[in-house]
Amino acid sequence: GISLKGKHLLTWKDYSRKEIIHLLERALVLKQSPYSGALSQKTLAMIFEKSSTRTRVSFEVGMTQLGGTAINLNSRDMQLGRGETIGDTAKVLSRYVDGIMIRTDAHQKLEELAGNGSVPVISGLCDLYHPCQALADMLTVYEQKGQLAGVKLVYTGDGNNVAHSLMTIGAILGLEVVVASPSGYWPLDFITGNAKKLAAKHGGSVTVTENVEEAAAGADILYTDVWTSMGQDGEEKERKEALFPYQINERLVTAAKPDVSVLHCLPAHREEEITGEVMEGENSLVFEQAENRLHVQKAILEALL
Ligand code: CP
Ligand code: NVA
Repeated sequence: GISLKGKHLLTWKDYSRKEIIHLLERALVLKQSPYSGALSQKTLAMIFEKSSTRTRVSFEVGMTQLGGTAINLNSRDMQLGRGETIGDTAKVLSRYVDGIMIRTDAHQKLEELAGNGSVPVISGLCDLYHPCQALADMLTVYEQKGQLAGVKLVYTGDGNNVAHSLMTIGAILGLEVVVASPSGYWPLDFITGNAKKLAAKHGGSVTVTENVEEAAAGADILYTDVWTSMGQDGEEKERKEALFPYQINERLVTAAKPDVSVLHCLPAHREEEITGEVMEGENSLVFEQAENRLHVQKAILEALL
C-alpha cells in the first residue's frame, strides 16, 4: 500500500502520480462516507496570515468529521506577529499538535516550518502555490469527465499561485494544460519549466500562450481566478486593463467544447474575470468544486497525519 504518513504538502511536485491518485480515490470514498474516527484525538493547527472562507471552514469541518480537532490561529494574534521566528513556532507547535496547515505570503515560510518542525506541514495557499485547491479541482474534473489524462484544461487570466498548482498537478496526471495570459502575467518560468518536464514524463502537456481564443478551442475545462490576488492590492487598475481580454464570458464558452465545464476556485469577482451569466450558467461547476475542497482535504489529513 501507499503510505504518506508524516509527509509535507507544499507543492505537488513532491508527489508521484500514484500518490495523487491514491488521495483522489480516498476523497471519493470519504465523500460517500464522511464520518470516522480516523483522526480521533488528533489536532491540526491552522495558521492564517491572509483571509479565507473555504480553506478555513473545510479544514476545520474536515477534522471534526474525522474525529479530530482544529485550532484556528490568526498569525497577528500569535507571537509570530511580534517577531517570534517561524522556526521556533514550528518547534513548539510540533510538541502540541499532529499537523500544521498554514496560509502565508511566502513559500519560504512553509519551508522553514517544514524544516524546523516534526509534524506534517500543509500549504493552505502561498505566493507560489495552492495545492489543496488543485487537488479539489482534479477531483471535480474527474467526476465530470470520467478521466484526467488527456483532458484539455485551459486556465485564463493571471498566471498566479492557482495557475502554478494546476500546471504542476495537471502535468503529473497527464492533462493537456494551457495557460492563456498577457505576457506580463505569465506563470513564473521555473514553475512552467518544471511542469513541462513533469508533463513530458507523464504523457501530458503544458503550454503558455497569449492567444486566449485559440487556447479555448476544444477545451474540456475553462478555469479562471481573480485578477488581483491577496497581497497585490494597489495593482487593481493596471491588472483589470491587461487581463480584461482573458475574461470567461459566453463568447469564450462558445469557443470551447459544447460540454465544457467552467471552474473558478472562488472568491469570484463577477464581470471581471468571469461574467455572472457564466458563473450561474449550466456549464458552471464552481460550487461543486468548492465542496470538493472538504473531501480532498480530508483525504490529505487522513493520509499525512
Ligand atoms: N479558494 C480558496 O482557497 O478560498 P478561500 O480563500 O476562501 O479559502
Ligand atoms: N489567487 C488568489 C486565490 C485565492 C483563493 C489569491 O492568492 O488571492
